[in-house]
Amino acid sequence: MKKELKSITADLAAYVKQLDEDTTSHRSQDTGHRLQDISHMAQETDKKTPAEKIRDAGREARDTVVRPTGDAMAALAKEIRACRKCRLGNSRLNAVVGVGNTSAKVVFVGEGPGFQEDHKGEPFVGRSGQLLDKILDTVLGLKREDVYIANIVKCHPMKDPESPESHGNDRPPDPEEISACRPYLDRQLVLIKPKCIVTLGSVATKVLLGVTQGISLMRGKWHDYPVDLFGPGHPIKVLPTYHPAALLRNSNLKRETWEDMKMLKAFLDE
Ligand code: URA
Repeated sequence: MKKELKSITADLAAYVKQLDEDTTSHRSQDTGHRLQDISHMAQETDKKTPAEKIRDAGREARDTVVRPTGDAMAALAKEIRACRKCRLGNSRLNAVVGVGNTSAKVVFVGEGPGFQEDHKGEPFVGRSGQLLDKILDTVLGLKREDVYIANIVKCHPMKDPESPESHGNDRPPDPEEISACRPYLDRQLVLIKPKCIVTLGSVATKVLLGVTQGISLMRGKWHDYPVDLFGPGHPIKVLPTYHPAALLRNSNLKRETWEDMKMLKAFLDE
């Protein structure tokens, strides 16, 4: 990086010097030709003009500052995509790592990818996902790019692992699959450092909070994430709410979900 900057600075200095010479000496030589020569030289050395080099260095610096977790998250994603720690790794079409802002204040956690997610490699892209997007937009004024969305397990749990192309083949993840995959979510949380987590549905809530109570008892209240990721006294807050798929089955749950999202908005606005 230092070397790269040095070479950009040298190119710039040469470029400015050339301009100075052209303007101060009032020589009759054609400046256009000189500029063309310089830019041609730069292209010959590494196919990038000084302006392109500066632009690229700026991009790189911005990425490092704005997304300090970018590289670590990319490395983790690579690891997850190569994972065979449980049998789901052998049947899934795509590992579904997570999507969104890696510096988000809130992480939404579902149970595991379904058919659509397995095909696209992205969480919550089916009907449940469309409803989640709508909730984010209407109640919180957020897009999926503003939050982070992930699952307890990263691969599609199937009733028949031989048939990833069949519909109606989804099942909940089993305890072995959950414990194999769970560390990945904690590593994602460490990198994102969110203010809070929203667990979507019973499975995510039970797994993350280590409780046995169902979602209707847990929702609508803030809980502390029991895993101490950021030192004692700094627990991530967890707000359980209904899974969007439950809302599609029973629209009476929408009012309570709305209330939960209002609680979330108040917390994020604090
Ligand atoms: N349901 C989930 O729990 N996760 C998804 O990604 C999609 C549907």
